[in-house]
Amino acid sequence: MDFFNRRDGELYAEEVPVSRIVAQYDSPCYIYSRATLERHFRAYDQALGDLPHRICYAVKANGNLAVLNVLARLGAGFDIVSGGELERVIRAGGDPGNTVFSGVGKQRWELERALEAGVYCFNVESEAELELLNTVAGEQGRRAPVSLRVNPDVDAGTHPYISTGLRDNKFGIDINRARDVYGHAASLAHLDIIGVDCHIGSQLTETEPFLDALERVLVLVDSLAEDGITLHHLDMGGGLGVPYRDETPPSPQAYGEALRERLGARNLELILEPGRSIAANAGIMVTRVQSLKPGEARSFAIVDAAMNDLIRPSLYDAWQGIESVVDNSLAETAVYDVVGPVCETGDFLGKDRELAIQPGDLLAVRSAGAYGFVMSSNYNARNRPPEILVDGDHVYLARRRETLEEQMAPELPLPELDS
Ligand code: LLP
Repeated sequence: MDFFNRRDGELYAEEVPVSRIVAQYDSPCYIYSRATLERHFRAYDQALGDLPHRICYAVKANGNLAVLNVLARLGAGFDIVSGGELERVIRAGGDPGNTVFSGVGKQRWELERALEAGVYCFNVESEAELELLNTVAGEQGRRAPVSLRVNPDVDAGTHPYISTGLRDNKFGIDINRARDVYGHAASLAHLDIIGVDCHIGSQLTETEPFLDALERVLVLVDSLAEDGITLHHLDMGGGLGVPYRDETPPSPQAYGEALRERLGARNLELILEPGRSIAANAGIMVTRVQSLKPGEARSFAIVDAAMNDLIRPSLYDAWQGIESVVDNSLAETAVYDVVGPVCETGDFLGKDRELAIQPGDLLAVRSAGAYGFVMSSNYNARNRPPEILVDGDHVYLARRRETLEEQMAPELPLPELDS
């Protein structure tokens, strides 16, 4: 459930008409709803109830400082995958001590900084990383808290680009080898083994793959206990899907209950790393129709946002809802491909959409709060759009629109050359 609703033929972000926000900040722009972010976070927190747990929001889904700050104020933990995400969490008032550090290719400087900052746990993905972390911790005279990310070899049944728990994927340590690797980790002087984690993929619409993975991880937990390695937590990663169209993913409540049931009376803290299910439906991207191009085969609505602003449709063939911000009773309904100005056929936001629109009208692309702005680029030398956070009837600018000056600032023209 989200707080983008229609009233009198017009889309509102909480208490504010979307058209009013665009009148101030222009299009394209991203708009986020604080109440929706909070509702989604609390749904997880409540679902796990009195089971010891941490909800570590996956910063990669939407790392805007205002968004992170909203979650930090609720006591959220964070899941980061880079030194940059760590600095964002700290800048936004998040607690590094409640932050887990995931990622397949952590660099030395990132490990150093995260150790200094005191992250709660390093989710280690390989033996090489284990050695490097042990060395870095030794140099700092610290002990690094670690969990091994195991690859449980389950099929998440999602898009191949965002499926991560199969043996063929680059992620984690093969669960069949994990017991040995834990044994080795236990022999390293500067590491504290505190947990185990897995993340099998994103946009899962069923609970079964999670439960299959959990079952396999619990077998590992038990065999480690036999080896004298007692874990404090189990981290199931993120991945719960959202309804973009007609998907019916389990609610955080149902998912949480299923996990609790399987965990039984084990003395393990449960960590979850949800990203999409907190942020996706807490955001929209608004774009203006530039022109309509009717054709025999297809008709196009050419809008002012493009694949550089929101790449999910182009990259994953993802479907996201598109609707008029204000009903236009003068326009005839027709079927359009909603496309941007970028010079690629793959530059579309939606295909075969029934819309009653005229040039100048605003369209809202729904479910754009996760993997939206964070995946934007300057392709075609386009400035990245602003991000706006709505809280009740308050509108906050959370990131202003980039300028051409800022876009080109890091670039250096060649010095004058003698010919
Ligand atoms: N934890 C780890 C270790 C992850 O790799 C991810 C996402 C998450 C948590 C959060 O997963 P979520 O709850 O958001 O599903 N750009 C793609 C999604 C990539 C997901 C990558 N990993 C998209 O737009 O669909």
